[in-house]
Amino acid sequence: MQPVQDPALPDFVHSLQRFDTYAEIEEIKKSRDFVNAGADERTIFLEDTLIMAEGQRHDELKRLFAPLMSRQALAYYELQLIEPVIRKSIAEWMSKRDADGLVRTDLVPLIHAVLTRISARVTGADGVDTPERTEVFRDLVLDVSAATTASYSSASDPAGVIRKGRESLQRLVDDFLQVSLDRRKDLAARHSAGEIPAEDLPRDMLMSLCLADDLSHPDDAEKIPYIWRQSALFLTGSIKTTSHTLPHVFIHIDEWVKEHPEDREKLTDSEWLHRAAAESFRLHQTTPARFRKAARDIELSNGRRIAKGEMIALHPAVANVSDEVFGPDGRYFNPYRAIPDGMRPWGLTFGMGSHSCIGQNLVTGIQNKGDEKHGTHGTAVRLLRAMYELGAELDPDNPPRRPDDNLHDTWESVPVVLRNA
Ligand code: HEM
Repeated sequence: MQPVQDPALPDFVHSLQRFDTYAEIEEIKKSRDFVNAGADERTIFLEDTLIMAEGQRHDELKRLFAPLMSRQALAYYELQLIEPVIRKSIAEWMSKRDADGLVRTDLVPLIHAVLTRISARVTGADGVDTPERTEVFRDLVLDVSAATTASYSSASDPAGVIRKGRESLQRLVDDFLQVSLDRRKDLAARHSAGEIPAEDLPRDMLMSLCLADDLSHPDDAEKIPYIWRQSALFLTGSIKTTSHTLPHVFIHIDEWVKEHPEDREKLTDSEWLHRAAAESFRLHQTTPARFRKAARDIELSNGRRIAKGEMIALHPAVANVSDEVFGPDGRYFNPYRAIPDGMRPWGLTFGMGSHSCIGQNLVTGIQNKGDEKHGTHGTAVRLLRAMYELGAELDPDNPPRRPDDNLHDTWESVPVVLRNA
C-alpha cells in the first residue's frame, strides 16, 4: 500500500503564507476574524453565496437552507434518487456482458449519474429526467465546476476554462434553471395567497430563495446574476466533491482487502464500510488548498501573525495526515484507526466552523449510522454496498486513471469488474 502524497499546488499559492497544522487550521476556521477567499474565479461564480457570505448574512442563509438536509430530505434523496439510479445502472450493465462472461463498468460515470439527480433535486432544477437531458445537465455542471476552480487547471488558458464555464452556466439557465425558477415564483405567490400549503411546495434551494424573496442583488451587467451564482454553488458543491472523493474509497478498500483477505467478508457490512469511507475521506481533499482573508490584524495562539486583508492558504491535506494527530501511519489507509478523542474520523475534510459542509450528512450518513428502511446511510455506503454485493473489484487489466488537465487529487476513470454479476 502506498502512502498518500501532499498535493501539487498552483504557482499563486506559493506566494501566500501557508498554514498546514491541524491546530492552526482549526483555530482559523473557527474564528470569525477570517472571511472566505480565493482566486478570482471564486468571486465570479460564487460571490454572495452561502460559501462566500459572512456573519449574520451567512447565518441567515444557513438557516434558510437547513431543511434541504433534514433527516427526512436525506432519506428521500437516498431511497428515491440514489437507489433507482443504482438499480437502473445495474440492469444496463447486466445486458452488456463481455466475451469472457464478466460484466465490466466504470465507477466514475456511475457516481456522476447518481450525483447529477441529487444535485438537480437539491438545487431545484426541473426536467433532469430523461437519460439524454441528465447527460446534458451533467456535462454543463462539470464545465461550471471546472471553471470555479480554474486556477487548478493545468490547461494553458484558465481564462478559457472560466469563459466556457460562464457559457455552460448560461445554457443551464436557458435549458433548465429559468423555467424552474419561474415555476417556483408562481408557487410562492400562490402559497402566500393561501392556495398552496407549505408541505406541498418543493423543498430545494431555488424554492427556499423564492419564499424568502431573496432573488437578486444589485449586480452590474457584467456579473453572473446572484440567483445563478447560488445555483452554481449548489450544483458544483454536490457533484464534483463527491465524485472526487468516492473513487478513492473504492480504491483504498480494494487494496486493503487484497492485503487483508480476512476482511473481504466485511464488504457488505455497512458499519465497516462507514469506517473505511471515513478513513478514506481523511486522506483526500476535494481541493489542494483553501483560502481565507483576515478581517483585522491577527496573532494566532502559536504567535504567527496575519495582517488585515492578507490572503492565506490552508492545507487540510497536510494537516489531515499528520503523524502527531493521527499516529505514525497517518499517511496510510487503515479502517481500524483509533480516532483521537473529540475528533471527526475524516478530520478537516468537510471543513470546520461556520462554513463547514452542509452536504456532509448526505455523503457520510447521519451520525455515521444508517437505517435500512428509512435510508440515511449516506451516498458513500449506499453506493459501495451496491457495488460489493455484485462482487466489484478493480479491473486488473485496466488500472484507474488520473486526469491530466488539473491538479486535483482525483480519478478520471476507475474501471471495475463485477465478479458476482
Ligand atoms: C465528499 C463530498 C464533499 C466534501 C469532501 C465537501 C467538502 C466541503 C468543505 C471542506 C466545505 C467548506 C469549505 C470552506 O471552508 O471553505 C464545504 C462547504 C459546502 N459544501 Fe460540501 N463537500 C462535499 C459534498 C457536498 C454536497 C453533496 C453538497 C450538497 C448539496 C455540498 C454543499 C456544500 C455547500 C453549500 C458548502 C458551503 C457551506 C457554507 O459555507 O456554509 N457539499 N464542503
